[in-house]
Amino acid sequence: MNHELSTLIPVPFGSLSIPEIAENSTIKFSLIIPTYNEGDNVPEIVSILSQLLDREIPGEYELIVVDDNSPDGTWKIAQDLTAEYPQLRVMRREKEKGLSTAVIRGWQAARGKVLGVIDADLQHPPEVLLQLWGEMEQGADLAVASRHVEGGGVSEWSVIRRFLSRGAQMLGLMILPEVIGRLSDPMSGYFMVRRDAIVGKSLSPVGYKILIEVTGRGAIRWIGEVGYVFRERQAGASKVTWKQYIEYIQHLLKLRFSLWPIKRFLRFGVVGFSGVFVDMIMLYLLSDPSTLAWGLTRSKILASEVAIVNNFLWNDAWTFADFSSQQKGWRKRFKRFLKFNVVCFAGLILNVLLLNFFFNLIFKEVPYGRYISNFIAIALVTIWNFWFNLKLSWRVTDAGK
Ligand code: GDD
Ligand code: MN
Repeated sequence: MNHELSTLIPVPFGSLSIPEIAENSTIKFSLIIPTYNEGDNVPEIVSILSQLLDREIPGEYELIVVDDNSPDGTWKIAQDLTAEYPQLRVMRREKEKGLSTAVIRGWQAARGKVLGVIDADLQHPPEVLLQLWGEMEQGADLAVASRHVEGGGVSEWSVIRRFLSRGAQMLGLMILPEVIGRLSDPMSGYFMVRRDAIVGKSLSPVGYKILIEVTGRGAIRWIGEVGYVFRERQAGASKVTWKQYIEYIQHLLKLRFSLWPIKRFLRFGVVGFSGVFVDMIMLYLLSDPSTLAWGLTRSKILASEVAIVNNFLWNDAWTFADFSSQQKGWRKRFKRFLKFNVVCFAGLILNVLLLNFFFNLIFKEVPYGRYISNFIAIALVTIWNFWFNLKLSWRVTDAGK
């Protein structure tokens, strides 16, 4: 035999974001197989996956084993297989550890248009891979093997483990409904995603659940799901401990904070606050008997407009600077300004309505009731203003680029 072993893939370092595909790549699909002490399973899973993919997309896929320097030498066993399986590549990590980063490092080194992941321990039935691939070919951005759709299930899980699994899903629904609600099995570790959907996004999962990270941060429109039965482990041991539950909750919270644009909202609030002062000063300059002595209504209308201009300029240059810089030119800027005006005007009307609502229906008999009502109204209108300006005024559209 004069087959040569391929060398190990260098381990990517630095940020956990997914690069663009190399222009000359002919690979359609890269499948990551994360391993830790899976020496007994690796030959079998590699053999089965190669057979399946050789039938479907011969020569156009790659399998990447990412091993965290397992004591049982999984990486060596995998590397020895590369002589027989030329589509197989192996990464041996010695510094970083953990399932999620293993998958991301694998994707960073991958050359395929579609990126996937499967467990090495054969608990994920390999045949399902072709069904997932089918979903991608039909145009899905993400295809997930799920235990909770038709054809899915778990084999011999204890009541406790089922309960914990469902409990974790419920908790996820409460904290991150717009992400967890899109997946029937958010805990799945068996899925594929179009590279385009996650290119340039920094993926930084805490713990095990990389699917949640991909769904939360990726540009995912269409999700395909395929049922599968989670099989029993044949060899080796599971690495799940109670620690994973804690990390899961930390992960949910971290994503929650980064998906809600909290920093932007704070800036918006600061700018709004500066507007109050501008409004006050203008009102003084226009209406005070010692200055221009205009009528109060006329003065207030002009003062509000000047405050709106002030707020617009600051928001455009600071709060939404990243969006403004993508839509340059005076015309576009003026358009943003007009939209900002409309949103703020609608906000003003809403403010009056809410003030009346809270005062008349709830706080009429309460001491300082009108101020409490006004405070709530202002808080709600600030959120309203922020949200609609984010979605309307500074929204970046592809049109006119
Ligand atoms: N490189 C690397 N580093 N691989 C790891 C590590 C690690 O730190 N920890 C686990 N793996 C590999 C295992 O070798 C296996 O191939 C796969 O990741 C899943 O690990 P298991 O320990 O077998 O997890 P499990 O069977 O309890 O959990 C599975 O089911 C979950 C759904 O309930 C996994 O598929 C999860 O991804 C899935 O979410
Ligand atoms: Mn497993």
